[in-house]
Amino acid sequence: MYKSNVREMLFVFSCLKLTPIPAFIYFGFIVSLFSSCNGDIKIPSQTTKNENTTFVEIAPIIFKNCTPCHRQGESGPFELMTYRDAKKNANKIKFVTQTKYMPPWPADAEYSHFVGERALSQEEIELIKIWVENGAPEGDASNIPTAPVYYTGSFLRKPDTVIKFKNPVPIKGNGTDHFYVVKLPMQLPKDTFVSYFEFVPNQRKLAHHINGHLINYTAGNKKDIQHGLTYALDAFKDYKELYAQMNILNDDGTFPVLTPNTVYYLPGYTPPIYPAGVGGHKVNKTSAILLKNIHYGPSSIDVLDSSYINVFYGSKPKRPVFETQMGTFGISKIEPELILHPNKVETFHTQATMNNDISLLSVNPHMHLLGKSFWAFALQPSGDTIPLIKINKWDFKWQYYYTYQHPVILKAGSTIHVYGTFDNTDKNPFNPNHPPKIVTQGEGVKSMQTTEEMFQFIFSYLPYQKGDEKMDLSKKNN
Ligand code: HEC
Repeated sequence: MYKSNVREMLFVFSCLKLTPIPAFIYFGFIVSLFSSCNGDIKIPSQTTKNENTTFVEIAPIIFKNCTPCHRQGESGPFELMTYRDAKKNANKIKFVTQTKYMPPWPADAEYSHFVGERALSQEEIELIKIWVENGAPEGDASNIPTAPVYYTGSFLRKPDTVIKFKNPVPIKGNGTDHFYVVKLPMQLPKDTFVSYFEFVPNQRKLAHHINGHLINYTAGNKKDIQHGLTYALDAFKDYKELYAQMNILNDDGTFPVLTPNTVYYLPGYTPPIYPAGVGGHKVNKTSAILLKNIHYGPSSIDVLDSSYINVFYGSKPKRPVFETQMGTFGISKIEPELILHPNKVETFHTQATMNNDISLLSVNPHMHLLGKSFWAFALQPSGDTIPLIKINKWDFKWQYYYTYQHPVILKAGSTIHVYGTFDNTDKNPFNPNHPPKIVTQGEGVKSMQTTEEMFQFIFSYLPYQKGDEKMDLSKKNN
């Protein structure tokens, strides 16, 4: 059942945003680009091939492009906050910058531009090489710029409040995927506007995705949100029973107001941050986040997961942000059907035509381990092509939510075309099957198994308003 009709989706999505949803079965998850936390570091614009390059010149490059992740509590496997750290890893740093493996930025920066783009210039790459080959000297320590100050516990900044898993979720080391439903009760001092939520995975290597809904309890409808199961295996059936056990319903047994898709996580994800008034949620004093669901990839040992959600307050949302997904679970059909034959590299296509003018804010390409490349563009009614995103080498680990510098305006009648190429051969180092076997989307939500495939293009947008093309999306709603 597919509909290539954004007007209908606008309607559907506005319903989702504004009314209680009795059927909790909703999917779609979203990824984001990270934003630079330390925008003010200067990089030498003119770099000479200087034999005397020292850490004085290298530090600003590392502080801008590496330490957002290579610091305590973040995803990078080692820290790069000091000269000692950098010196110790100098050869590796040279290697990963030469190969452009780091900093991770899968989108083709020659095709389209996004906020927080993280790519080193050729000069910077060269400078690092010279520095390493000269023995990675420190130089005059008093001239080394001070490392950025980060808040440990968030990729972004210090949150206004943190909601923790009430009980750690047990992940069995039996080598299979696990799906859980988790409830995080929220008791705020008062009704509050929240700009964004940041899910911080505790078992980073296992967290495959989360898709969380916001539940707002109307005053007087819920006496106690703390009781009930805080997590349960998602068995994909009889949610009514599960929600009763989790004590999610209103005291009179009716459903509370639910806003789907308010909290997301995928590997590499951080939430998109829009200017004040764009997006965000009103969160009632008594509320909860329902992670429905949280998907952990296979583990070989038993572990406990104690993830948490950082909550960032903001101003009153003036313009709600809508999301649509094309392809798997989306409004548009994949052609041909997503069946990946063993030992083949195959390309699939999906397209959707806009019925209204929209202002495209962010896009998120999504595939699993067999993904090879991804390409999306829009054809305007005038015949003009608007480049949206191109990923020449898909990497499952980096699934950003890419935000444009300025909204991309798509006029009614524009068609978004998306092409995804999948590599189901033995040459694909991430292929989970040796020998390769036939891979499909699976059935319904089970298609979220890591070893099954998805081909999805998720985009967030505003219904177009005059002047949107000038909106600066790099302005943060902080
Ligand atoms: C967005 C987060 C992020 C940024 C930015 C980033 N890294 Fe990484 N880095 C990672 C993660 C996560 C890994 C481990 C997973 C992997 O290898 O892909 C990693 C792996 C590495 C490795 C390989 C470690 C090994 O032994 O295999 C090196 C070296 C490295 N990073 C250096 C850098 C340098 C240098 C920069 C900046 C120019 C940088 N990284 C920027 C997150 C990041």
